[in-house]
Amino acid sequence: MEQTKVVKPETLNDLIKVLHQIFSSDTVNVEEVQNLMESYESKPQEWKAYAKFDKFSSIHDHTDSHCFMKMLQGQLKETLFEWPDNKMNGGMTKKSERILHENQCAYINDSIGLHRVENVSHTEPAVSLHLYSPPFDHCNTFDQSTGHRNTVKMTFWSKYGEKIQVETTVSKENN
Ligand SMILES: [Fe+2]
Repeated sequence: MEQTKVVKPETLNDLIKVLHQIFSSDTVNVEEVQNLMESYESKPQEWKAYAKFDKFSSIHDHTDSHCFMKMLQGQLKETLFEWPDNKMNGGMTKKSERILHENQCAYINDSIGLHRVENVSHTEPAVSLHLYSPPFDHCNTFDQSTGHRNTVKMTFWSKYGEKIQVETTVSKENN
């Protein structure tokens, strides 16, 4: 078997360059992407222009895409849930929870389940870098106590570090 060449990206731009190469093919090697993203050592000066802070957090799915989440600063708690059973009208089942630490890269897709990601610290900000493939423009959020879902449209909060003007009728969702 051919060995996967792992080159540690020294900068965020290096990481992005290598990710573009990897995602130019039709198949995604989850472990390769996860290892690559984990090997980048976060340097705030490289991403601070793009970091925007928001309080919103909900249980959500990922529209059949791969989702990689790299910790750039602080810690986040990830709680995994089972998909709600449509026949039952009850609370959602929690599968596990864990703390994600700086430089760690988490992975989820719809076959793994649903998750909620939150910063449990009241004093330390948390920053994460998300990669979705293929891109999607809608996802579902879920009410923890009933399992009811709500489809939401994905929007950009900012592009290239510049805040986007959001129409007031469009809901905004972090995932
Ligand atoms: Fe997510």
